[in-house]
Amino acid sequence: MAERRINPHDRFAGYSRQSIVLHWLSAAIIVVLYMNQSPNSAPFHIGLGLIAAPLLYWRVRTRFSRGYPRITELSLPFNLGARLVMFALLVCIFILMVTGPLIPLLNGEPYRIFGWFSFTIPFPNMENAAAIAESAHAIAGHSLMILFALHMLDALTHHFFDKDTILVRMLRPIRNGK
Ligand code: HEM
Repeated sequence: MAERRINPHDRFAGYSRQSIVLHWLSAAIIVVLYMNQSPNSAPFHIGLGLIAAPLLYWRVRTRFSRGYPRITELSLPFNLGARLVMFALLVCIFILMVTGPLIPLLNGEPYRIFGWFSFTIPFPNMENAAAIAESAHAIAGHSLMILFALHMLDALTHHFFDKDTILVRMLRPIRNGK
């Protein structure tokens, strides 16, 4: 059985406080955005999406520049699968973050923010480009939810069956962690 304790002096053993806060905050925002995607919820979705976009960009950038903690001693296919899912999650977040704010712009529509106010950015109407952005946004959003389910299942399996530190290291920060 694997060890549950994390060596706090080994910076490859876990995540920094900043990474952990970014992980859970962006996970919560993404789930809330997904649950509020109907046309009626558009002002909420657009408002929260615009506020979240810089945070999500920062989150993706930080992960790619910092890398990951050490992989576990599990078999290669499982480790590779988990890494691929995490990579694909970051790619989906990036696509959503870029295409979301583009859709009203390319459609020549106003950005309605939480039903409080709205503004329009003067831009040539580009319906074909808007349709591509909308499709990419929808595909990335639905793919992200499937990946999220796999990712969550993987994290819980590690915690309850393999009894290793994978979930714990996303809850307890270490100094100079990844
Ligand atoms: C209940 C929900 C979730 C649980 C239990 C969970 C758990 C975890 C755990 C344990 C790790 C560390 C894996 C390792 O170090 O090998 C991790 C990393 C990661 N998770 Fe999640 N996660 C959840 C939701 C999400 C969501 C919704 C997303 C994306 C939309 C996401 C994206 C990522 C990514 C990209 C990583 C790699 C490290 C990072 O960049 O933060 N997770 N997650």
